[in-house]
Amino acid sequence: MSQAARKILVTSALPYANGDLHLGHLMEQIQTDIWVRFQKLRGHDCLYVCADDAHGTAITLKAEELGLTPEQHIEKMHAAHKTVSEGFLVQHDNYYSTHSPENRELSELIYQRLDTNGHIARREITQAFDPEKQLFLADRYIKGTCPKCKTPDQYGDNCEACGATYSPMDLIAPVSALSGATPVPKQSEHFFFTLPAFADFLKQWTRAGHLQDEVANKVAEWLDADLQEWDISRDAPYFGFEIPGQPGKYFYVWLDAPIGYIASLKNLLDQRGEDWLDYWSADSSAEVYHFIGKDIVNFHALFWPAMLHSAGFRTPTRICVHGFVTVNGKKMSKSRGTFINGKTYLAHLSPEYLRYYFAAKLTSAVDDLDLNLDDFIQRVNSDLVGKVVNIASRTAKFVQKSGGTLATDVADEALWQRFQDADAVIAQHYESREFSKAMREIMALADAANEYLAAKAPWKLAKEEGTDAEVLAICTQGLNCFRALVMWLKPVLPQLAEKAEAFLGETLNWHSAITFRGGQNINAFKPLMTRVEKEQVDAMIDASKETAPAPKPSGPVADEPLADEIEFGDFAKVDLRVVRIAKAEHVEGADKLLRLTLDLGGETRNVFAGIKSAYAPEDLEGKLTIMVANLKPRKMKFGISEGMVLAAGPGGKDIHILEPHSGAKPGQRVM
Ligand code: 2FM
Ligand code: ZN
Repeated sequence: MSQAARKILVTSALPYANGDLHLGHLMEQIQTDIWVRFQKLRGHDCLYVCADDAHGTAITLKAEELGLTPEQHIEKMHAAHKTVSEGFLVQHDNYYSTHSPENRELSELIYQRLDTNGHIARREITQAFDPEKQLFLADRYIKGTCPKCKTPDQYGDNCEACGATYSPMDLIAPVSALSGATPVPKQSEHFFFTLPAFADFLKQWTRAGHLQDEVANKVAEWLDADLQEWDISRDAPYFGFEIPGQPGKYFYVWLDAPIGYIASLKNLLDQRGEDWLDYWSADSSAEVYHFIGKDIVNFHALFWPAMLHSAGFRTPTRICVHGFVTVNGKKMSKSRGTFINGKTYLAHLSPEYLRYYFAAKLTSAVDDLDLNLDDFIQRVNSDLVGKVVNIASRTAKFVQKSGGTLATDVADEALWQRFQDADAVIAQHYESREFSKAMREIMALADAANEYLAAKAPWKLAKEEGTDAEVLAICTQGLNCFRALVMWLKPVLPQLAEKAEAFLGETLNWHSAITFRGGQNINAFKPLMTRVEKEQVDAMIDASKETAPAPKPSGPVADEPLADEIEFGDFAKVDLRVVRIAKAEHVEGADKLLRLTLDLGGETRNVFAGIKSAYAPEDLEGKLTIMVANLKPRKMKFGISEGMVLAAGPGGKDIHILEPHSGAKPGQRVM
């Protein structure tokens, strides 16, 4: 290798300080940590910083609920998050908080530069205000009856039942979810970042190799539609930083959150007497990588580079976007016990199992990653225990018996050549975040080493007279293969590597390609890893299960009074048809909707249905259901919906699509 050392700053998304870290957060942190450990192992100057995202109304409300001040609450969460990350062997060079003096200073600096450059606009807006709690209500804190389909208890700006989008003030009988009071419209001045001024810059930047292609394509859709100015202020009371010179106005949490990346770095470098501008000045030659989930691309690929550009700082080298974690093919669910908190996992299982499983499935693409629990057990046991560790446990004792010193020469040149040839390939897979390819390559070589040992069977040979030198040569070969595998796995399995290093008597680094190690002494072999047992996994799932709260006693009619009487003719206008769900898909950015492609027996329809809380797409495909086929197409936030499927149930997991009689055929009319 021997390329010049690179200076690299890496971040993962700052977790909100109001919730526990779950496997979704940990997948991201593990992905980031593996990449960082790889860079460090290669000898690069690489820093990994993160922090808690500590501001916003949700923090204040949670703190209130817990009887704490926001400061006390975020301090506790910070300690808890740190412990869990460390438990998963995630090695942050600094884990800080956005509620810090450095972040205040940097947020003020960046804001002032945006303002000076004419990129902050001010104007009055009208918003829902809770007269009891005396605060402005974000959409998610307002609930009421859907103005379109009249379903009660809908939150925010879209309806779970019919998928309609609207302004929360259009809800029928809106109430504040915080106090129950009726919100009133109230005006106040807000500050906006003039994002449209950066349209040309962003069109160029987002196509300049900073994003995965699929992400750049998505962003291009936003850029082709009209960009909106971004509301970056919130009125008091708000937990955050007050805008300088603007009493009662605070920075919106998403303004200071990404600046928290810089603040965490600055906090670290100040202690070391180094300058954060080495990384962030416009002409910095350092590299900056942000690892994030697909739900926050707009903040990182639009607002953030535009802000940095205006403020005269460098923009990120690359935004590395990943998908969501599913468990057993479904969205993580509290009732199924698959919404797994990091802390719960660690109480039952070793972090390295999960690190390896994630590595074995991670690619550089935005795809979701499924943690299939049976596959998890099988893969960890077969790859790590059965293949890698097995090589050392089968050979170490023979080297010990012959005095603990490795033979000097390579026994099987062809096998060793395969290992040497793979070195650069594996490194390239790590570099390009194709961890699954790296793991596949490594395991193929582990197979080759095991085949070699099985063919040579040193354990049999050792029983014969005069074979000592040959046995030692074979086992030396085996241990060299093992040593290479451990070095390549070190970014993923730092604990296993540490134990193996104690046994090999050296600290492994990957500054240059793997070399054969002969003639040295090795130490006593101790077991490196134990098998995952199904009981441990089951216990973890049990511990994660949250029994659903008993449904509120209610009579449907009493809860929701009947609508006005209609004529038979009105009803007859509704054309209900049997349809086959040809395709069901997640909708990027929608928490409640699935996109259904419905086969009407010849023609197909695209319909958005608010049933995501109850169905995974794969549960729906192929099913028959009933749709309103002559509903006028409606433009919704995510596209045009051409009809509506019928479903019943109180909501959440308990929504059931209606099924027609057996023998029904797509296209048949239902009366
Ligand atoms: O989506 C989230 O969980 C945010 N707290 C991420 C912030 S990342 C960064 F911009 F700070
Ligand atoms: Zn509705």
